Amino acid sequence: MARPPSIDPLAAAERAGVRIRAAEPSDVPAISATMSDPGVIHGTLQVPFTSEARRAEQFTFTDLHTVFLAAVPLEGGDAIGNIGLHRNTRPRRIHTAALGMSVRDSWQGRGVGTALLAAALDVADNWWQVRRVHLEVYSDNEPAIALYRKFGFEVEGTLRQDAFRAGEYVDSLTMARLRD
Ligand SMILES: CC(C)(COP(=O)(O)OP(=O)(O)OC[C@H]1O[C@@H](n2cnc3c(N)ncnc32)[C@H](O)[C@@H]1OP(=O)(O)O)[C@@H](O)C(=O)NCCC(=O)NCCS
Repeated sequence: MARPPSIDPLAAAERAGVRIRAAEPSDVPAISATMSDPGVIHGTLQVPFTSEARRAEQFTFTDLHTVFLAAVPLEGGDAIGNIGLHRNTRPRRIHTAALGMSVRDSWQGRGVGTALLAAALDVADNWWQVRRVHLEVYSDNEPAIALYRKFGFEVEGTLRQDAFRAGEYVDSLTMARLRD
């Protein structure tokens, strides 16, 4: 099997006008703000009116098996995007990891998601020896599906009526990218 596409993380970040770095506890307000944006709530499992304190409890900054990254504008200011790569720690699934990400509504479509995903997959491929990265995405989330396809993710199945969103059930697709 051929290697899946990868994109140079530094070049992708430069194109998007951001720096990708480890997320820190001081980023919690900015990341919480990102997760409260209407477009981000629409595309994820976030619930409106979630407090910053509640979100802070969910974030992991010290877990050895999590890579939690933030995108920060080169021009300065707070983080405007984030990605979490979570390695499975069960012995027979240690070669797999799950992914979640979000970019502030006002920054979407400018290459930030590409820069974040390029950086996270660089860790998966070249530092963690992860072979399978998988995720779930709403079946109508075209920008996200296009982003994942660009990096070699393929649809594996449909989870019917997987989540409740704005008063309706919505299907999700499971997607995965195999390294070799
Ligand atoms: C999904 C998300 C993370 C993508 O981040 P982004 O910064 O907007 O992504 P990029 O600008 O790097 O675009 C990546 C690709 O998406 C595609 N894309 C972007 N906007 C699109 C649109 N409006 N329609 C269709 N495809 C689109 C393009 O293929 C683009 O790649 P290209 O520019 O090289 O052709 C971001 O839109 C987001 O946070 N959405 C809300 C939360 C969410 O849905 N998270 C994912 C949950 S699975």
